Amino acid sequence: EPLQATIPDPSIRIYGILGNPCMHSLSPPIWNRLFQELEIPARNTWFECPDPARFIPAAEKAGVRGLSVTIPHKGRVMPLLDEIRKDATVIGAVNTILLLDGKRYGFNTDWKGIYRPLEGISGEVAVILGAGGAAASAVYATSMRGFTPIILNRTVERAREMGRHFGVETGALSDFTRYHPDLVINTTSVGMKSHTAAANQTPIPVSSLTPDMHIFDLVYTPAETPLLRGALDKGCSIIPGTEMFIHQLIEQFKVLTGIDIPADTVRRWIL
Ligand code: ATR
Repeated sequence: EPLQATIPDPSIRIYGILGNPCMHSLSPPIWNRLFQELEIPARNTWFECPDPARFIPAAEKAGVRGLSVTIPHKGRVMPLLDEIRKDATVIGAVNTILLLDGKRYGFNTDWKGIYRPLEGISGEVAVILGAGGAAASAVYATSMRGFTPIILNRTVERAREMGRHFGVETGALSDFTRYHPDLVINTTSVGMKSHTAAANQTPIPVSSLTPDMHIFDLVYTPAETPLLRGALDKGCSIIPGTEMFIHQLIEQFKVLTGIDIPADTVRRWIL
């Protein structure tokens, strides 16, 4: 039997997610749903690859239009780009690459996924729980909304390092009760379904929350985390992690295709 191969139509625009691993990512089917709904002749696929320095030139050659970048490449791709937006440089991570006319442009749309759901929420102090990549985006987003961010982390030295970079105060998770934040953002993986050891736990005790606090949990699997459930019981207003997911996606889609989809439309299509 002759070998069957599907040769893609060259007029179809190709996008993809670059990571290692990334084959588990739901990003391509979600992007493809948006392309389908909008009747855009484009596809999104998985590019699981250990070495972006080898992959990006090959992708350019093949006519790939844009990439979503994930673990562990968000920092590694930066030296490979022609131009990086200032916000991405400050955060120290690029999660979106636009390949256009032989040039490589880097963006960070992660922080917009935190910034946009905070519209209409104001206050003075925002406590960021965690000090990983997502925390950097949270520090940047809350600063842009006029909050004073404070980074609290299990490993205090890691918080300190990030605090030095952004010029903000830091501490341990147990220091939470010393602050009276208007906003709390959980960027730790505590409460995540896959995080078996901590699936029923919260990064800080729910008893330290008060009703005037806004609680934003970036964990979105499950949609209702133990932290959010506890916050609701305490009378806090909550923002679920699906909001970050949606708004990050909208921003990335806008950067890579030029199309701005309303949040309600995206929610209807993908949730
Ligand atoms: P990301 O890039 O998604 O932020 P990360 O860099 O792995 O992921 O960071 C995970 C965050 O969750 C860290 O702040 C981590 O704390 P440490 O720096 O002390 O490791 C935090 N975290 C993970 N498991 C935790 C747990 N059981 N209790 C408290 N914090 C935890």
